[in-house]
Amino acid sequence: MTFIVLARSTARALFSGGRSYHRQFSTAAIARHLENVEATHHHGGSFYYWRKMSSLPEIKDQHHNSSEEKKNEDTTTTNNNNNSVVSSYWGITRPKIQREDGTEWPWNCFMPWDTYRADVSIDVNKHHVPKTFTDKVAFRSVKFLRVLSDLYFKERYGCHAMMLETIAAVPGMVGGMLLHLKSLRKFQHSGGWIKALLEEAENERMHLMTMVELVKPSWHERLLVITAQGVFFNFFFVFYLVSPKAAHRFVGYLEEEAVISYTQHLDAIVSGKVENVPAPAIAIDYWRLPKDATLKDVVTVIRADEAHHRDVNHFASDIHHQGKELKEAPAPIGYH
Ligand SMILES: [Fe+2]
Ligand SMILES: [Fe+2]
Repeated sequence: MTFIVLARSTARALFSGGRSYHRQFSTAAIARHLENVEATHHHGGSFYYWRKMSSLPEIKDQHHNSSEEKKNEDTTTTNNNNNSVVSSYWGITRPKIQREDGTEWPWNCFMPWDTYRADVSIDVNKHHVPKTFTDKVAFRSVKFLRVLSDLYFKERYGCHAMMLETIAAVPGMVGGMLLHLKSLRKFQHSGGWIKALLEEAENERMHLMTMVELVKPSWHERLLVITAQGVFFNFFFVFYLVSPKAAHRFVGYLEEEAVISYTQHLDAIVSGKVENVPAPAIAIDYWRLPKDATLKDVVTVIRADEAHHRDVNHFASDIHHQGKELKEAPAPIGYH
């Protein structure tokens, strides 16, 4: 039974949703859609309307759901189409939120207070020279993985970035979760490191949500992601338990490679090998980019984020190298 459920969810992950991945919304299209949504959903209680705004078919479903919702107003029901619960009875609807220019905030996956301007002045050439045996093993392992990924992706920069982000968003979540559990077990503060690592995971996931607006993963790439996640999550979980010092160093080197990859991506955009298309709407809001921002701007801010993750993880490893625990050094939080 468990096998059947697992097989069905894997098949669904592989074959559903692909239709939405290559769609690029212009700001104007979103504004037009916002007007439509506002015309039909002008009351509260519908916090899921923009849950997946990059998928037009789902938006169509949501219109359908809304008319049903009106019929069932003031009741708590389950919608058979998407299993969303009408929440008006419980008073937990999302307040109406606006952008600074007064337009309605279209996202539910992040709020205006989660947005920021990336520090693009960060040094993208910094490198931690491996000194100890652990450092050298971590560095060589990452370089080996790099060779494999270059062989697979070659010059498909967008696809490479998208696949990289599915892995890059794992370590912060695993590290944050393990520090969270440690804090509970030992009745100790974390020094802000739980938050810092979870912020990193969330930021990486937003990189993925951005890249997936530009690249359509094929079925075999989806299969690769599922397999890689199954292997990497478990590997990193054990790795972090055994040696957080080595795990953070390993991630520091992964982030160095991410910076290199995004630099190559930028070079390809500048040289014209990759078309400098308009930035996805989600990126414009998340990084507070100008409305006419392009892919080049997006890759520039993502690269700055990766450079920041590089520094955070090498710093974390250095703390362990000094024989201290992370909580003894204030965590770098609030960067994104
Ligand atoms: Fe990333
Ligand atoms: Fe990163």
